[in-house]
Amino acid sequence: MDKIIIEGGRRLSGSIPVSGAKNAALTLLPCALLTDEPLTLRNLPRLADIDGFQHLMNQFGVSTTIAGSRPEDFGRVMTLEAPRITSSVAPYELVRKMRASILVLGPMLARMGEATVSLPGGCAIGNRPIDLHLKALEALGAEIEMAAGYVRAHAPDGGLPGGRYSFPVVSVGATENALMAAVLATGRSSLHNAAREPEIVDLCNMLVAMGAQIEGIGTSDLTIHGVPRLHGATYRVMSDRIEAGSYACAAAITGGEVTLEGAKFEEMEATVQALRDAGVSVEAVAKGIHVAAEGPLKAITLSTAPYPGFATDMQAQLMALLCLAEGSSVLTETIFENRYMHVPELNRMGAHIETKGRTAVVHGVKHLTGAEVMATDLRASMSLVIAGLAAQGETQVHRLYHLDRGYERLEEKLALVGARVERVGGD
Ligand code: UD1
Repeated sequence: MDKIIIEGGRRLSGSIPVSGAKNAALTLLPCALLTDEPLTLRNLPRLADIDGFQHLMNQFGVSTTIAGSRPEDFGRVMTLEAPRITSSVAPYELVRKMRASILVLGPMLARMGEATVSLPGGCAIGNRPIDLHLKALEALGAEIEMAAGYVRAHAPDGGLPGGRYSFPVVSVGATENALMAAVLATGRSSLHNAAREPEIVDLCNMLVAMGAQIEGIGTSDLTIHGVPRLHGATYRVMSDRIEAGSYACAAAITGGEVTLEGAKFEEMEATVQALRDAGVSVEAVAKGIHVAAEGPLKAITLSTAPYPGFATDMQAQLMALLCLAEGSSVLTETIFENRYMHVPELNRMGAHIETKGRTAVVHGVKHLTGAEVMATDLRASMSLVIAGLAAQGETQVHRLYHLDRGYERLEEKLALVGARVERVGGD
């Protein structure tokens, strides 16, 4: 299995192109199920999760073609076409590997009037149920039954009528599923306490480009007027705010400065504020966002929260940065109950972090030391890379497949700004 070897202590400087957003792409791809016309997605990141989703779409009979991208380019253009859907079953084998597969449930139900999707099962960052996905779809008129580890959803004859649902907890995935189901309903739907992450806005914008009628985009109250059919579209995936935030932490921890090309300041305000509070300069510039470490890092207190709050997907990377801050930072994880797998590994690198339940106290230390480390999820793995960039000596990050799920050509991008990183085959 591949690993990444980092020689720490080099100041990062230069520009990093930000890729298309993984989490946006994973909800834009299943929208191809909503139309029999071609859907072309530009700026699609080259990631293992995207390949996995493509495979899932192929299994439903959706054709996928990749055009016009040279190997040296970041991103790809993919055209998906589903004139005829040949299967409405998402099997365990695929859903187990990639939880986002659950996002075919809404669009498949809308287009075919039925969908059978394996329950995703457990996941390293906690118990991630899908009850809200199912309740929202039921509120839109679906009939749902569970059998042998699968969810079977049916629409009444004539299609989903649409309906009203108020989410008891903000859920990105459940909002996406409900939106994709509601756009082809026969009537009107309203979703309350909906997630309003920029990736949801991206989804709404693309659905509108396909002919959907959605009001309240960018707010937590969405009204969807169902239309009989959607047409094809060409759409550019938004830039990845989590990838950009990760590289901002990487630059800052090395005392460096980078321009994150294509990053959108207005979609990253909570991350920007956290970095500024920690003593890092962050400014919007014509090309994207400029980040520069200025003086010593400062301790901060922060909780994760749904957008526009501080993203849980940035918690691990920010924690790595705070390991070298002056004073003690307090981070509280409110979204997932088990998202501190990076803590013991950071501590093995010389960090001083204590966790109690959902709170982590990060006592700043003077320096980190390279070590062999591994993590069990994507963002935790990135936090170890960030720590490794600042650590004295060599860090080896194992289980690289996590990083390949969410960071397009990580080592190439880090090398662009002067990091010494190498991918090697390991065990
Ligand atoms: C998405 C992101 C993930 C991010 C998360 C929160 C994708 C592919 N993944 O995940 O990277 O960390 O948003 O920003 O976009 N919940 C329930 N029942 C449900 C669904 C969720 O109780 O049916 C709970 C979850 O356990 C969690 C909270 O709601 O505590 C938020 O989860 P949710 O927003 O749904 O996360 P995902 O969509 O899975």
